[in-house]
Amino acid sequence: MKDTLINTDIGAGNAFNVLAKSYDDGFSHTALGRYYRQRVQQVMSRYWPAPGQLLELNAGTGEDALFLAGLGHQVLATDKSAAMLDIIRHKTGANNRQQITTREMAIEALPELSGRQFCGILSNFGGLNCVKNWHAMAEDTSKLLLPNGYYIMVVMGPWVLWEMIYFSLKGQFNKAFRRLGGSCRWRDMTIYYPSVRQIKKAMSPWFNLVESQALGLFMPPPYLNNRLESSPKLYRGLAYLEDKSKQCPGLWQLADHYLLVFQKYE
Ligand SMILES: C[S@@+](CC[C@H](N)C(=O)[O-])C[C@H]1O[C@@H](n2cnc3c(N)ncnc32)[C@H](O)[C@@H]1O
Repeated sequence: MKDTLINTDIGAGNAFNVLAKSYDDGFSHTALGRYYRQRVQQVMSRYWPAPGQLLELNAGTGEDALFLAGLGHQVLATDKSAAMLDIIRHKTGANNRQQITTREMAIEALPELSGRQFCGILSNFGGLNCVKNWHAMAEDTSKLLLPNGYYIMVVMGPWVLWEMIYFSLKGQFNKAFRRLGGSCRWRDMTIYYPSVRQIKKAMSPWFNLVESQALGLFMPPPYLNNRLESSPKLYRGLAYLEDKSKQCPGLWQLADHYLLVFQKYE
């Protein structure tokens, strides 16, 4: 079923429609993409140990939906990009995964699911950075989650040490500090970079933050993957430091992404 997209940023789906075909090769199937996804999937396995009904926001090409279906979950995989969802359907067909259903839907249109309840909600790798009104998103998702249910999200943060150093060394200061203003234009859309404090505030009427991790404090952002893939020793060293520091208080706020787990109040 296709839904009407409700989004103030009219062109926003198009950028990802264009990216869809190259998304897995450019990210999911790279060393960095695999490393980051595996980190998030470890957390999913811990918080959702028993099979249940999960809602995935901004599901992209369905890598996580397939992983979760493999654990026995039923997944409603939503995304506003029709091209991304086509790739999920292709993969689920090939894997005969009956537990995954897809729905073309913007996060801003979540009230369309009103009446349904899930035991968990996932938003991986930055889909929430496309959302302007976090308070509305938090309220909408709270209505779709069972009491005590977990909402796992991975969001791009505003202060990224790697990005600041890398682009400053190249003399590209606009790029180095682009996130500090809280938002910037990317292709045909606006990307927002909320701090953890801002996210906690938006979520606090309905959710409690129960876990936070850095993703990309020592490991570089995905666009530096080529440099890392050519140096396995460097990869192992950075991955070691990353694993050791992932929950270090304060430091994780300097990472490319942060992984947050919220629990809905009873
Ligand atoms: C960087 S990709 C992440 C995809 C996937 N979650 C993953 O882990 O690979 C971001 C996804 O967010 C989707 N997206 C962007 N804005 C959205 C919105 N307002 N509502 C729903 N999906 C959105 C895009 O179409 C894209 O598939």
